[in-house]
Amino acid sequence: MTRTLIRGGLVVTAAEETHADVLIENGRVAALAAHGSAFGATWTADRTFDATGKYVIPGGVDAHTHMEFPFGGTASSDTFETGTRAAAWGGTTTIVDFAVQKKGHGLREGLDAYYAKADGVCAIDYAFHMIMSDVHEGSLKEMDLLVAEGITSFKLFMAYPGVFYSDDGQILRAMQRSAANGGLMMMHAENGIAIDVLVEQALAQGRTDPRYHGEVRKALLEAEATHRAIQLARVAEAPLYVVHVSAEEAVTELARARDMGLPVYGETCPQYLFLSTDNLAEPDFHGAKYVCSTPLRPREHQAALWRALRTDDLQVVSTDHCPFCFTGQKELGRGDFSKIPNGMPGVENRMDLLHQGVVDGHISRRRWIDIACAAPARMFGLYPKKGTIAPGADADIVIYDPHAEHVLSAETHHMNVDYSAYEGRRVTGRVETVLSRGEPVIGRGQYTGRAGHGQYVPRGTCQYH
Ligand code: URP
Ligand code: ZN
Ligand code: ZN
Ligand code: ZN
Repeated sequence: MTRTLIRGGLVVTAAEETHADVLIENGRVAALAAHGSAFGATWTADRTFDATGKYVIPGGVDAHTHMEFPFGGTASSDTFETGTRAAAWGGTTTIVDFAVQKKGHGLREGLDAYYAKADGVCAIDYAFHMIMSDVHEGSLKEMDLLVAEGITSFKLFMAYPGVFYSDDGQILRAMQRSAANGGLMMMHAENGIAIDVLVEQALAQGRTDPRYHGEVRKALLEAEATHRAIQLARVAEAPLYVVHVSAEEAVTELARARDMGLPVYGETCPQYLFLSTDNLAEPDFHGAKYVCSTPLRPREHQAALWRALRTDDLQVVSTDHCPFCFTGQKELGRGDFSKIPNGMPGVENRMDLLHQGVVDGHISRRRWIDIACAAPARMFGLYPKKGTIAPGADADIVIYDPHAEHVLSAETHHMNVDYSAYEGRRVTGRVETVLSRGEPVIGRGQYTGRAGHGQYVPRGTCQYH
């Protein structure tokens, strides 16, 4: 039996902050004891970490990543190996990635391909959602089997006609099925049919630069789709989780639904909290680095997103990590913004950027842990194994130095992508030590984990409502 002890830190969970020592046995949290207590004084361990002056927090749960994701005529540049290692560097110890159903193929086949991609190479634990791009009688039946197997959430797209798009009838059917089988529908809420008209018109007028990506994917078309998704979920009596919310108008739709007591949830991402259309307008095609969907919005939307995180109108912050290199990948869209692969890197930066939200006074420390660890774990059936520090939980634990400053940069990051969306940004707070099921994976500025340590985690159903 291996025993590890973390002494002297401030243990921060979504529920409370306690000056406590943490005892880990066989990869799980065994007990917590107040600093200097008689109980804790009896503990012995093989390995002891001194966390004096540091936070002891649950490892991050990033519920929205795309490793090796085939998209936009290419594939995202992080593999499960490189992407999960970068996640560990940033204090994230669980990712939920998206397996993809190909058009004309079943869910089973798509899922099995993702099990194979991730098997034996991940640095941290991982789970899957399922993207449905072909809703029909067969794939609806397969949903039940997947839920029973631990794939308890499904993403549908109101965007990307001809690729992942589902029409309202398909959406309603899938929602009805999830209402019956306990699955959670995740929605990419943008009116893709209307957007494609605006794309065509913009290109015809010679508006080809990256910034037009932000102009055609209008906030109103995110709000309209969000509203429609909510009404369809009400009709189906199904819970709904809207992914990568960026527009204030969409937040208003979610807030209204929640005020009616509906089981409607939303996620935003660090890029929407820290970046804006100013980045999309960067010259010499550099705006392409910030092309993702939903798009970055004008700065004014950021305050609405932070507010919604405080008021629980948004519950989760994930990264939607979907990196494409500037050279050779983003460049596919030179002269036509609609051909820029959609997606941004960030799996390594989420915990630090959200801690910066604490430093800047947007959210409390406990809310930081809630939106980054506990809420995603509860939302996607991983709690309390993941997302908290309590007896019985997996010892996925980060020792976090709240005072250390560092500068985010492609020179020093570990994601397999040739730029940082946050290049040169100074943040206060830094990951010092990361344990995954009690095993040190990051410590003293070194990666000490290994490919294949990360295990697949089957999930229960949503525990949020
Ligand atoms: O631009 C994005 N978000 N790329 C990843 C795919 C998606 O829609 O989440
Ligand atoms: Zn999406
Ligand atoms: Zn409200
Ligand atoms: Zn995504």
